[in-house]
Amino acid sequence: MSFRELDSTNNYALSLLSKNKPSEGTVISAWKQSDGRGQIGNYWESEAGKNITVSIVLYPSFVTVQEQFVLNQVISLGVVDFLSAKIDRGLRVKWPNDIYVGDKKIAGILIQNSLSQSKIQSSIAGIGINVNQTVFRSNAPNPTSLALETSSAYELEELLPQLCKAIETRYLEIRSQNFEKVRSDYLNCLYRFQEDALYQRTGTKEVFSGKIVGLTKTGRLILDTKKGEAIFSLKEIKFL
Ligand code: BTN
Repeated sequence: MSFRELDSTNNYALSLLSKNKPSEGTVISAWKQSDGRGQIGNYWESEAGKNITVSIVLYPSFVTVQEQFVLNQVISLGVVDFLSAKIDRGLRVKWPNDIYVGDKKIAGILIQNSLSQSKIQSSIAGIGINVNQTVFRSNAPNPTSLALETSSAYELEELLPQLCKAIETRYLEIRSQNFEKVRSDYLNCLYRFQEDALYQRTGTKEVFSGKIVGLTKTGRLILDTKKGEAIFSLKEIKFL
């Protein structure tokens, strides 16, 4: 389903789900979002008609609540696979699911799960990929786009099926219970994995150096620091 303007493709998908059960794999895209949503309540900047802004409806009932981070991994890897056909260097996933080229962000992902007892009942995978936008106005840190990285312009209508295919391929890996492959592929393209870097504890001035050494089963970040191993959730740590 493609729309000229929505407040947010994720909001539209949520409203569809509240009324009936759209089929798995329903893709909602918008030429313009008037209120694009980012992680932790942030705004997602996307110039009208220039970028991919989509939400995909999934029913991953085979994923438990404890395992739900695997969805972040699958969608991130799908976006990386899609982009790697166009950009041949420096593609990484910045934990938990920002897509980076070098030190710049090219895509963001907002996943909204609805839980039923211990399983995921439905999941909305919202994906924003900067494609033809070359000027960014918001204070989003270090944005980039396919056009900026490759000095070419792209037809959005051609890209969308490629993206969906890449995500479907990754989604089928977890549907066939291949969680381990997905976990190891994700670590292999994790930004700053096994590298010394600086971090800040959110809400404090505490800056410390550490090295990402792994993830917990629930997807929290494990850092090796001078004081030993420390575990962080998204709201607790800032990459400097
Ligand atoms: C982030 O990095 O903060 C996540 C950004 C997610 C943006 C996409 S664009 C399509 C979908 N609809 C939204 O309102 N947000 C996601």
